[in-house]
Amino acid sequence: MTINFSSGFAKNFQDTKQAEIRATVSALCVAAKRISHICARGPLENGLGDITGGANSDGDAQKALDVRSDEIVTAALETAPVAYYASEEQDDILTLDVNKPLAVASDPLDGSSNIDTNVSIGTIFSIYSACKDAKSSFFRVGSEQICGGFFVYGPQTTLVITAGDGTDTYVLDPDTGDFELAISNMKIISASTEYAINASNHKHWDASIRAYIEDCLAGVSGPLAAQYNMRWVGSLVADANRILSRGGVFMYPSDNRAGYQEGRLRLLYEANPVAFVIEQAGGVATDGTRRVLDMPLTALHQRVPLVFGSKTPVRTIEKYHLRSKNI
Ligand code: F6P
Ligand code: MN
Repeated sequence: MTINFSSGFAKNFQDTKQAEIRATVSALCVAAKRISHICARGPLENGLGDITGGANSDGDAQKALDVRSDEIVTAALETAPVAYYASEEQDDILTLDVNKPLAVASDPLDGSSNIDTNVSIGTIFSIYSACKDAKSSFFRVGSEQICGGFFVYGPQTTLVITAGDGTDTYVLDPDTGDFELAISNMKIISASTEYAINASNHKHWDASIRAYIEDCLAGVSGPLAAQYNMRWVGSLVADANRILSRGGVFMYPSDNRAGYQEGRLRLLYEANPVAFVIEQAGGVATDGTRRVLDMPLTALHQRVPLVFGSKTPVRTIEKYHLRSKNI
């Protein structure tokens, strides 16, 4: 046993599909336990944050833990009912066994810049039913995910997950080695005055994001009439986890740096699974104006501007976007 599923987990699926989803999540839990163990040893493992000399599909320098995590996730999925695996760390989709029913996309190690800093990092995943071939299994809209979520390797190792009937958090119990249900049916508060953005990119943002952040900074006497607070961990999983716990809004908008015209984050294995758990917890996830889960994937490693979290600020940011485009 690696995870003690809540009795209702994946209850919307028929028995066979539910068993396949559970087997795949269990395999991912095995991988996460290994990665969590390596993270906990940190500098004792020697060189987890070292640049390997390779680059992933997006040109980001790969670090040793990125590569190890991808190997661990691949090995775990080989034991699961998974036909295809799409990874941030691989240019192309891996075919594991065409006769299996599911397809998994993953960012095996999210938050690579925090590897050597003892700050939370994680593994993100998204599960689909496999289609007739590798490409069509992933080139679709995120609303077709059957399960999505992420692990956080932090003070606790946690799993935040949805199979389309609410968002739950499991905690890896260090005493038993199993993931135990800790918080079921999470709900994100709808109003919040906490935002997350890498403010060092201010000069590269478009007018709408600049206007919104400037109005947040203006505080109680500004147009938003509230004192705002800012947090930016620099690991998507950690910022998403905080927003699930106490609300807020995350923004990684497009900006005018080379390579950032569509933002930084990837649709398939970052934005889609995060959007799925956020929506299932009552939050909203957009690219500024459009729902993330409605966006067709047109390139495996496609980027997307990402705004998600509490409903009120996400909708307010949408208004800033529409206003700046005079819509
Ligand atoms: O995976 C990309 C990522 O590391 C996210 O985890 C994080 O939210 C973001 O990039 C950090 O970006 P930046 O380095 O610009 O702060
Ligand atoms: Mn990532």
